[in-house]
Amino acid sequence: MSELVRVTVPLGERSYDVLVGHGAAEFVGTFIPESVKRAAVVTQPGVPIDIAANIPHERFEIGRGEQHKSLATIGDLCRGFAKMGLTRNDVVIGVGGGMVTDVAGFAAASYHRGVPVVHVATTLLGMVDAAIGGKTGVNLPEGKNLVGAFWQPSGVVCDLDALETLPDREIRCGYGEMAKYHFLTGDDLLAMDLTQRIARCVEIKAEIVASDEREGGRRALLNYGHTLAHALEVATEHRLAHGEAVAIGLIFAAHLAEITRRIGVDRIDEHFAVVGEEYGLGTDLPAGLDPHHLVELMRRDKKALDGLTFVLDGPDGVEVVSGVGDEPVLAALDRMA
Ligand code: GLY
Repeated sequence: MSELVRVTVPLGERSYDVLVGHGAAEFVGTFIPESVKRAAVVTQPGVPIDIAANIPHERFEIGRGEQHKSLATIGDLCRGFAKMGLTRNDVVIGVGGGMVTDVAGFAAASYHRGVPVVHVATTLLGMVDAAIGGKTGVNLPEGKNLVGAFWQPSGVVCDLDALETLPDREIRCGYGEMAKYHFLTGDDLLAMDLTQRIARCVEIKAEIVASDEREGGRRALLNYGHTLAHALEVATEHRLAHGEAVAIGLIFAAHLAEITRRIGVDRIDEHFAVVGEEYGLGTDLPAGLDPHHLVELMRRDKKALDGLTFVLDGPDGVEVVSGVGDEPVLAALDRMA
């Protein structure tokens, strides 16, 4: 057995551990209290890890694709839970990427007004972001993740074995989120092996979530690179996947921070070195997008409470900056065109 790293998300009585490493899924049972009589395993076709929960369990598969991240899927799952007789003393286990853990978490938060949930993250993006921190939810036709709940899991397992069969594009999407962590602290993440690096990303996220669980302020730092990323996802009709858009969003945020005199050009170079060179991610703005349309999309970002709001690097590190004018934003987009 290779190295397993345990990270605690410190949230008082809702604290939980995240276990990171190859073969970690074998230990999912350690997160399930002995009083639990049955488990509902929520997963997707093709997910490479089959949970050997040694208690009676039923498996529920949800469809692939954003259209299945819906209230209809939550309804189907909850009806399935009712038919199997799941109670509040039982457990839901979400096994998959971010979509699965978002949906399984929301079904667990809603059914019987809250059933414990354990997540087994099988994608890099799920491991460093989606499965950690208790955000759950589904989409409406009017927008992504518009309905959901904060529902912390009882434990999270990040089994690196699952990454061995993950398609390259999904690995790159995980790298987009991972790259963001390089700029949230001064840690030399590149000096770490993959297990240590994922564990450190989890630890950074855990510390931020613990300081602002329901995103009243500081948790927004986890959206570094995301304001342009969300706009790019919409403007390209999701041809750019989330992590790919975050990579471009990080470079944009560096340009904007330099244009607004918060950082020097050397720091832009550091962003290019991590995002483009280390992780091999695309850093160019896709051709043919109207910058004014992107600005309007960013103005409508649901995190923007006061005009154009960004998470920007600066002399005191990364922070939320509201009320940014159109001019520097257009100038930063122009540099990337
Ligand atoms: N994905 C950002 C957060 O969990 O707050």
